[in-house]
Amino acid sequence: MDDAVLSNDKQVYRPGEWAVTPGVAAGSPGEKSPPLAQLYPEKDKYLIIPQARYTDPAFAELEWKAVWSKVWTCAGLASDIADPGQWFKYDLGRESFVVVRQKDGSIKAFYNVCQHRGRQLVTENFGRNHSFVCQYHSWVFDLDGKNRRVTDREYFEQDALSGDLSLKAVRCETWAGFVFISMDENAKPLREYLDGIPGIFAGYHFENMHVVKDVVVEVPCNWKIGYENFLEPYHAHITHPEIQPAVDEVLNQYDFYRNGHGNAITRVGLPSERYADKNNINPALAFLLQEAGINPEQFQGRATDVRQALIAAKRKEDNPWGIDYSGYVDSQLMDDWNPSFFPNMTFNAHPEGTMVLRFLPHPSDPSKYLLHQWVLIPKTKPGVPVPYYMGVEPDVDISGTVRPARRYTTLADPQMGLVVGQDIANQVGMQRGVSSKGLSSGVRLSEQEQRLQQIHAEIDRLIAAI
Ligand SMILES: [Fe+2]
Repeated sequence: MDDAVLSNDKQVYRPGEWAVTPGVAAGSPGEKSPPLAQLYPEKDKYLIIPQARYTDPAFAELEWKAVWSKVWTCAGLASDIADPGQWFKYDLGRESFVVVRQKDGSIKAFYNVCQHRGRQLVTENFGRNHSFVCQYHSWVFDLDGKNRRVTDREYFEQDALSGDLSLKAVRCETWAGFVFISMDENAKPLREYLDGIPGIFAGYHFENMHVVKDVVVEVPCNWKIGYENFLEPYHAHITHPEIQPAVDEVLNQYDFYRNGHGNAITRVGLPSERYADKNNINPALAFLLQEAGINPEQFQGRATDVRQALIAAKRKEDNPWGIDYSGYVDSQLMDDWNPSFFPNMTFNAHPEGTMVLRFLPHPSDPSKYLLHQWVLIPKTKPGVPVPYYMGVEPDVDISGTVRPARRYTTLADPQMGLVVGQDIANQVGMQRGVSSKGLSSGVRLSEQEQRLQQIHAEIDRLIAAI
């Protein structure tokens, strides 16, 4: 890579200060947030991250008490429990929960544990019951958690059954079709916790999208290494060089919100600042034009004009996707909007499809985590493909009539698409590195990695609060 190809913009660009749409109106989804230092004045304490934060079981234990036991995390999708009695299991670290649709349409979540001897009530990922029957001694619990039966009750001394025999509930609230839980009964309401995120994503209506992919793979590194991978576009030029002809991974907009959340906007439909030819319509841009019903041979304009032409094509009522784009701002039509929901979820959000990744800590080993990928798409015209990089295989029924089963894959073939596969390959190489004496001075972060500073600052704020 040759720095000489970078334009003058790059000379004055400070990551975090760029606005994808300069001068965008206050209150618009594209409005640039204040800089990180405004929300996190302590950010410069996180220019170098000590190794122990990725490796030390004692630090992982602190995270369990201060972070996982307190915050809201996404447990699953409301669409998977559309009908009363439908439930899904959510495993988070050492805990397991069952999240169930009630007869009145509300959703409740409980620790997945029988109040008799502690056997897990459900072991499958999804199911539908009239009640929960423990498979060990057949105690029965209603959908709302109340104990309905103590088998052979007459053989229990009264004191053995003192207190509440209901399943232990946890807080459960939804946003945009995502069900969140918190183990902290004093947690602030979910919407308040999510701060600016619901506002900027209101136009996507994720609750109307359906699942076309559901994959889980165990990755041998700390959960933060996985999460951090998707918080910075700095790595893209070398890890995903194939995107440069049509994605500007340099001049990103970074936005910061309270409680550790953030967003990055990466412009799509123009060559990268690192890509020398800003003039000719390269094959990647030609492909995008073709998709939008524009003949690339006849396109009058430079490579840097393609993005605007694509936005205009989507604004047409009879656009080739069959999507009503009226609720989206221009940047959302084309660009990669990449919110991070602290502590462990990211989206790559596009109107035509959104890839959701969750980074789930291992129950006991800080050097492993589970990477969970969902791909959600809206109803489109038949034949419209899912954004290619999300890796939805061509033989998958994407019409929404079939909810694909959850797949458990291996590192040899994670089945998460080319781009996430490239990311996983990096993560696999990280844990030995961050554990090595050769990195005893710590992990060093650039301005392009400010969102990593933010999450470490947020973790420490939560640790200080316990
Ligand atoms: Fe990546």
